[in-house]
Amino acid sequence: MSRVLSGLQPSGDLHLGNYLGAIRNWVADQGAHDAFYCIVDLHALTLDIDPAELRTRTHETALDLLAAGLDPARCTLFVQSHVPEHAQMTWLLECIATMGELRRMTQFKEKSAGNDSVRVGLFTYPVLMSADILLYDAERVPVGDDQRQHLELARELAIRFNHRFGPTLVVPEASIPSVGARVMDLQHPERKMSKSVNSPLGTILILDDPADIIRKVKKAVTDTDGEVRYDREAKPGLSNLVELLAVSTGRTPADVAGAYERYGDLKNDVGEALVELLRPLRERRAELAADPGEVADLLAVGADKARSTASATYQRAARAIGLLSPA
Ligand code: AMP
Ligand code: TRP
Repeated sequence: MSRVLSGLQPSGDLHLGNYLGAIRNWVADQGAHDAFYCIVDLHALTLDIDPAELRTRTHETALDLLAAGLDPARCTLFVQSHVPEHAQMTWLLECIATMGELRRMTQFKEKSAGNDSVRVGLFTYPVLMSADILLYDAERVPVGDDQRQHLELARELAIRFNHRFGPTLVVPEASIPSVGARVMDLQHPERKMSKSVNSPLGTILILDDPADIIRKVKKAVTDTDGEVRYDREAKPGLSNLVELLAVSTGRTPADVAGAYERYGDLKNDVGEALVELLRPLRERRAELAADPGEVADLLAVGADKARSTASATYQRAARAIGLLSPA
């Protein structure tokens, strides 16, 4: 079985982009692959989250992932900070990575633009992410399109490490879905749906109730030419809706676009399809919330499993780089 790993920040309510771009594929990979999924609370420290809120959100993110279909019997679900090797491995990789390559990361450039007091952690964020991946010898990393450049860095650092210190780390591949990898904001279809942007009407949360989902889809911004056609460049809003229907019904965007003449009919079907897609998540989430102790136990088991793999890789890397092993 090949090894897959992915991570998600505990930074708030999950939205449709997280689900379609990433989590749905994590669920599909369980069982057929040796899958590790990590709630990256150390990465969340680069944001402004209040300590009590970070703890709550970490717990709730675990609930959301279980509700979305992750099954701890078939995957390893754990919290990043429960495995101290993530921070240790980050240091080794920071001594391999260069300022120049981190400065080129577009996510850092966007988030730090014009801000002198930007945190060092935001700058080194992609190195911590590389450590997450390389510690588990992950061959494949299922993520949305926005993580492509970070994955390139993880590959580059693994290759460089192996070149300098001998074969030690597995070089990972990004796995980005062909449809759903870039879900756009319904009100601003030129930018991706994101939890860091305040756009309540443009963002569908996985726990939104059906009436809200339908209302948001009805109000989605399209264009005025009136033709149903899949063209992400010229018609970003409409094409986003076409993609949402395609991915939630297992059809191709071209098929979907060919089946409609009126925007209103398309929107009705998109709304209904999304309600059905998310219904089981909402139902499972309510059941899980009833037993918080169970989730804490599951995360403890996950951390144990994760740690045995991570510590073996860390020790291999530490030895290769020249650190003296403790007696
Ligand atoms: P984040 O919420 O930034 O921690 O992202 C978690 C996962 O969701 C990552 O794999 C992202 O690539 C993916 N993701 C986030 N936003 C979107 C989006 N608008 N469309 C598709 N995938 C997304
Ligand atoms: N940076 C990723 C995001 O914002 C989250 C992440 C952290 C991740 N570590 C990872 C994704 C390791 C894949 C693998 O979405």
